Formats: sequence, C-alpha cells, structure tokens
Amino acid sequence: MTELSKATHIQWQQYQIDAAARARLKGHQSTVLWFTGLSGSGKSTVANALEQELLARGVHTYLLDGDNVRHGLCADLGFSEADRRENLRRVGAVAGLMVDAGLLVLSAFISPLREQRELVKSMLPPGKFLEIYIATPLEVCEQRDVKGLYKKARAGEIAHFTGISDPYEAPLAADLVLNTAQSSLEQSVDKLLALLASKGVIV
Ligand code: ADX
Repeated sequence: MTELSKATHIQWQQYQIDAAARARLKGHQSTVLWFTGLSGSGKSTVANALEQELLARGVHTYLLDGDNVRHGLCADLGFSEADRRENLRRVGAVAGLMVDAGLLVLSAFISPLREQRELVKSMLPPGKFLEIYIATPLEVCEQRDVKGLYKKARAGEIAHFTGISDPYEAPLAADLVLNTAQSSLEQSVDKLLALLASKGVIV
C-alpha cells in the first residue's frame, strides 16, 4: 500500500515469469538510467543518441521523456512542486513495470529535487536506478534556449521555471556526471556505455 492507495481488499497476483527469466531471453539486464538536469541541458539529446547505440547492439530499450509523457500519462499535471512529484511518481511506476518487463529504460526528466529522485529510486528494485547528472551550466542552457522557454521565463511569462524561478538541486552522488558544453555527444555516449558495462547491465 502507498500513501495514495484508495482501493482496499486487493492482493498481489503471483506471476510465473520474472525479470530474471526475461533477462536470460534478452541477453542483458534491465535497469533505469535516470537523466536529470536543467531544461536544455542535453538530457534528451544524450538519451536519444545512447538509445540508438544500444539498439544497434541488440539491447531492448525504451525512452521516457518529460515533454512526451506530459502529453498523455501526465497531461493533467503542471509544474508546482506537488505536480512535479506526482509526474515523477507516475514515471517511476511505469519505469518499474518496464524494468520488470526486461527493458533498459532511459528517463529524461528535469526532476529538480533530490527527494523526487529518491522517491523514484525507492520505487525500483535495489540496484536498478542509475543517476546521470547532465551538469550543463544554466548560462549555457539559457543561451541555447532551444524551445524559447528561458526567454519567456525571464519575461515572467512562465511561472516556476527551473533554474530561473524554481530551484534545481544537483545530485550529490550521481553514477555519472556529464557536461554537454564540454564533451561531445560521442564522448558522452561512450561514457554511458562504459558505465552500463561496468555495472554488468550490458556486455
Ligand atoms: S519535471 O520537473 O517534472 O521533471 P519534466 O522533465 O517532466 O519536468 O518537464 C520539463 C519540460 O517541460 C521542459 O523541458 C520544458 O520544455 C517544459 N516546461 C514547461 N514549463 C516548465 C517549467 N515551469 N519548468 C521547467 N520546464 C518546463
């Protein structure tokens, strides 16, 4: 039961096929690679490039991206602290199902607060959450302003904008820190592949 549970008199059904059986079939382990960082820091770009490389190697993946999830599963949520937390809780639940289904899940969400990222981690089996901090500085993200949102946020047209009018708490012990202003996309992907191999997720 969670803090949200409304239904009573429900039990867990036992499945005959588990994550270990699916991992044997797929030839790799499942996990969540959690990309966190400011809007425009390069989370989606790096995750997309990594996913292409993994596909080429026969790894079964799925990419969960903040902008896309907010069109459907989380379309009813905004950017208050409570809404961001609920956004990430739902993503954590979906990622958990995908991990159980044997997938290597790439998740690209600002996920600004440590407590929110800890919540997601706590929803996954032990060792199935790798935190990747995309540490591209705010000045660079703002200069890129790919979506024109920083300009709007500075003009006061978007409330609660991460880095401008809302906080971002950098991870204290990320599994990998990348700065897309300093290293190439290829270098970032290589570091991620090395991390996955060192953790025994892929061979
Ligand atoms: S999170 O904080 O709940 O993790 P999420 O990653 O889903 O955020 O969504 C972030 C995307 O929503 C940004 O890349 C940006 O395009 C858009 N966005 C719209 N409003 C905001 C805002 N107030 N703060 C940050 N991003 C916003």
